[in-house]
Amino acid sequence: MPHPDLDSSEIEGHAPLEASSGAPVLVDRLGRPLHDLRISVTDRCNFRCRYCMPKEVFGADFAFLPRAEIMTFEEIARIARLFASRGVRKLRLTGGEPTLRAQLPALVEMLDAIPGMDIAMTTNGTLLKTMAEPLARAGLDRVTVSLDSLDDAVFRSMNDMDFPVAMVLEGIDAAEAAGLPVKVNAVVRRGVNDHTLLDLARHFRGTPHIVRFIEFMDVGSTNGWQMDEVVPAADLVRQIDAEFPLEPIEASYEGEVARRYRYRDGAGEIGVITSVTQPFCGTCTRARLSAEGSIYTCLFAAEAGADFRAAMRSGATDEDLLALIDATWTAREDRYSEQRSASTAGLRRVEMSYIGG
Ligand code: GTP
Ligand code: 5AD
Ligand code: SF4
Ligand code: SF4
Repeated sequence: MPHPDLDSSEIEGHAPLEASSGAPVLVDRLGRPLHDLRISVTDRCNFRCRYCMPKEVFGADFAFLPRAEIMTFEEIARIARLFASRGVRKLRLTGGEPTLRAQLPALVEMLDAIPGMDIAMTTNGTLLKTMAEPLARAGLDRVTVSLDSLDDAVFRSMNDMDFPVAMVLEGIDAAEAAGLPVKVNAVVRRGVNDHTLLDLARHFRGTPHIVRFIEFMDVGSTNGWQMDEVVPAADLVRQIDAEFPLEPIEASYEGEVARRYRYRDGAGEIGVITSVTQPFCGTCTRARLSAEGSIYTCLFAAEAGADFRAAMRSGATDEDLLALIDATWTAREDRYSEQRSASTAGLRRVEMSYIGG
C-alpha cells in the first residue's frame, strides 16, 4: 500500500524488514518493494532502431563507453548478490544488445549461482542462433526477443541496418530448441508498423511464444517521440479481438508490466504494455543498473543514482554497498509515466539503449 506521506527516516525504520523467505523487504517512499534488477551489460547494439538509436545520433563517431568504464563480470555479480540479499528475485540482462558482450555465458553462470534467481534477457535475437544454447546451459531461464514486424521491408527499415526478419526467427527457433521460454516484444509505431501487427499475432498463435505489443514510449531525448504515433493498446486489443476473440487474464506475477489476454479458442496468449495510456508505476519494483555501474530508479530518469562502480573501485565493503542500495531505494519516489504531461515533454532523460529499457 502506498505511503506517500512518510519521510525516508520513517521508512528506513522499517527497512529492511524480514519477509517470509528470510530476505529483507526494502520499500520505497511509495511503498513499492524492490524485486527486479535490470542489468545493462553493454551500451552497444548492432541495430539502429529509429525509435531507440537513430543513426543521426548514434553514428560512426558516437562515443560508446570504453572497455575500462564497463563493469566487469565480477563487479556485476557482486552487485547482483547484494541486491538479492535485499529481496531481488529477478535479473534481466539488457543492453544495448546484451549478446554483443563477449563471454556473456560466463556472466550468466556467475549469476546462476545466486539461489532462487529468475534470469531473463531482452535481446534483438540476431545472435541467438549460436548463443542460445551456451546461454541456456549457463543457466539463463528465458528470453524476450524484440521483433517489431514480420514484414521484411518494414522490419529492415525499423532496425535501419537491413537485418532480415528471418534472422530473428532463426534466433527464436534456436532459443526454443535450447529449451528457453520465449516472449516476443513488438514496439508499435503508428504509420510505421501498425498495419502489420495482426500478422505477428497470427504467426505466433498456437505456439508457446507470447507476443507483447508495446506502446511507443517517450524514453530518451533522441527518438522524436510524438503522442500521435502511439497506438493505444486498447485499440490494438480491439483489432486483434475482432479477428481472434480474446479475454483478459490475471497477471502471472504481482507488478507484471504486460496486461495479458488469452485467445478464447485456446491458441495461447498475448500481452500489451501500456506505459503511455495506462501507466503502471504504482506496482513498479524495478531498479536498473547501467553498463558503467550506476543505478537508475526509473526508466525515465534524467540523472544517475548511486555509482556502484566508483564505490567498488575505491574499496567499498559489502556493507557500504548495501547501505547505498538501501539509501537509493528508500529515497525513491519516481512515477514518471503517471506524471507524464506537457510539462515533462522537454525534459532530458537517459537513453533507452544506455539503460536497457
Ligand atoms: P517479464 O514480465 O519478466 O517477461 O519482462 P518485462 O516485460 O518486464 O521486460 P521487457 O524487457 O520485455 O520489457 C518490455 C517493455 O516494457 C519494454 O519496452 C520495456 O522498456 C518496458 N518496461 C519494462 N519495465 C518498465 C518500467 O518499469 N517502466 C516502463 N515505463 N516501461 C517498462
Ligand atoms: N518505446 C517502447 N519500447 C521501446 N523499446 C526500445 N525503445 C522503445 C520505445 N521508445 C523496447 C525494445 C525492447 C525493449 C527492451 O524495449 O524494442 O523490446
Ligand atoms: Fe533496437 Fe534494442 Fe538495439 Fe535499441 S537496443 S537499437 S531497441 S535492438
Ligand atoms: Fe517504473 Fe518509472 Fe516505468 Fe513508472 S515510469 S513504471 S516508475 S520505471
